[in-house]
Amino acid sequence: MAMAAVLTVSAQDAEKPLLQNVMAYESVSLNGDWNYIVDVQEEGYYDYRMNPTRWGFFQNAKPQKPEDLIEYDFDKSPTMRIPSDWNTQDERLFFYEGTVWFYKKFSVESSAFKDKLALLWFGAVNYDSHVYVNGKHVGHHIGGFTPFNYDVTNLLREGDNNVIVKVDNKRHAEDVPTQIFDWWNYGGITRDVKLVKVPQLYIEDYSLQLEKTNGKSDKTRTISFSAHLNKKEAGHKVTVSIPELKLEQTFTTDADGNVQSSTFNVQSKKLQLWSPETPKLYEVSLSVDASTINDQIGFRTIETRDKQILLNGQPIFLRGISIHNEKPNGGGRANSVEDARTLLSWAKELGCNFVRLAHYPHHEEMVREAEKMGILVWSEIPVYWTIAWKNPATFENAKRQLTDMILRDHNRANIIIWSIANETPHSAERDDFLGRLAQYARSIDATRLISMAMEVTSASNYVNRLNDNMNKFVDVVSFNQYIGWYRDVNDAPKMKWEIPYNKPVIISEFGGGARYGYHGEKNQRWTEEFQENLYRENIAMLDKIEGLAGTTPWILKDFRSPRRVLPGIQDFYNRKGLYSDKGEKKKAFFVLQDWYKQKASQPLH
Ligand code: GCU
Repeated sequence: MAMAAVLTVSAQDAEKPLLQNVMAYESVSLNGDWNYIVDVQEEGYYDYRMNPTRWGFFQNAKPQKPEDLIEYDFDKSPTMRIPSDWNTQDERLFFYEGTVWFYKKFSVESSAFKDKLALLWFGAVNYDSHVYVNGKHVGHHIGGFTPFNYDVTNLLREGDNNVIVKVDNKRHAEDVPTQIFDWWNYGGITRDVKLVKVPQLYIEDYSLQLEKTNGKSDKTRTISFSAHLNKKEAGHKVTVSIPELKLEQTFTTDADGNVQSSTFNVQSKKLQLWSPETPKLYEVSLSVDASTINDQIGFRTIETRDKQILLNGQPIFLRGISIHNEKPNGGGRANSVEDARTLLSWAKELGCNFVRLAHYPHHEEMVREAEKMGILVWSEIPVYWTIAWKNPATFENAKRQLTDMILRDHNRANIIIWSIANETPHSAERDDFLGRLAQYARSIDATRLISMAMEVTSASNYVNRLNDNMNKFVDVVSFNQYIGWYRDVNDAPKMKWEIPYNKPVIISEFGGGARYGYHGEKNQRWTEEFQENLYRENIAMLDKIEGLAGTTPWILKDFRSPRRVLPGIQDFYNRKGLYSDKGEKKKAFFVLQDWYKQKASQPLH
């Protein structure tokens, strides 16, 4: 009986800090058909531990002799297009929550990575993944919506190689998100996979931000630059060049391989600031020694003054909409430029200058396309509802997801708000958890606003009060309210709102459900007329809230949720969309569009 070979020799320290601006590098795409095995009892992972004659799936074992017993074969298993969620690719997996193994064979000429490092990069894998390259375990990643990468340079061989990924989307109380959430638990390798070619010495992360004027005479503006290399080496020359601004400066790394925060000045009249009206992006090149990468950077400032949000020093009203990361046509996880352009063009048509990417980081193309289209972004980690506040591992998980969300996108001018939570029940443990998370977010990015979607409490029958200890940790107080859906819409005109904080207010959710094409009286729930009236009444009510700086109604498009089971109406869709799951506009769309037209024409002072 063949003994199972030495199993997972882990490639030590294969996981590397997230590569900044991965799109700037030449890469070999591993998108395409991957073989997959549904492993309900995870025999492919655990059996070998109990029975050394068994083979782990990650070894891609083949019979060597006629008597060899191997009870799996990736090459004979079905294939699935990657990136995708498995739920919409194989109807047997629509509700599946468990482990699926994915296998990709690929060939490499040694010349392809000559003098380069090979980083195996995943845009996102939901939720818990183990990655193997040619049978070697390179890493274990937890978190379903942020990228991660492994240095596999020394594991690649001439000719045939394989990547095997064990993906497990089971839910657990200590996870982020926890076991209950109002969206579909799409499992799988849901975003791009690529082998990235990076020089032996590369700029692991960099930041290029316009500094606030702080009231100084703004004849010149200051751009701050910082960076760090993948090696702790002093004396390397890092050059930043912005040709259109005739800016070029070279900095020298310190012993840690860092360029500490350095600045260079530019005449204000020469600098076109990024804004929704003029989403100006500058070509920037960054080089270290002989290697150069490019990025497109917008320069703007974001801050608050009392109850106003100031973009480039001017008050702005955020005409937003909430969006889930789901394809426009209802086909599962969104993950392409086309998906992003369609969803964002719908938001534009609505009259939006702002989107809330709920409830987790969306794919990078969504952020970059919004930046090109002049759409501001609220980006969020899935600290959602009843998180295990007392569990240190849960905090570390949330912190890691927050770090990677910020690392990936902190050079995008259109991201103005990092959100650390959504609708989390009050407790001392929750306040401690979120307080530390907010302080940490500010410590790694002091240039953006921090917020979270809070909940109001009913102070009396017609008075809603925002009373959340987290108010001192956020720059913008945001909350969800559902007058008209979870409470009678006729109460709307009588409602008073007490928000005792001298900070801008965003209504991060309001709305109600309707099945597209179902019509009736405005008091008939689930009709388009019901939703239309709910929007009218809510807009009239919200317009009276002092300090309202924006809103992101719930939600652009109907989206899948296992919690929405009303036959003939929901059928596993949350129907609060202004668009149906087929991209059809409901009547409420036009109510919000009218309001946003008015708001856009009302100058703020
Ligand atoms: C909550 C929650 C959303 C959910 C919405 C709803 O506010 O934040 O994720 O989908 O309510 O009930 O539709």
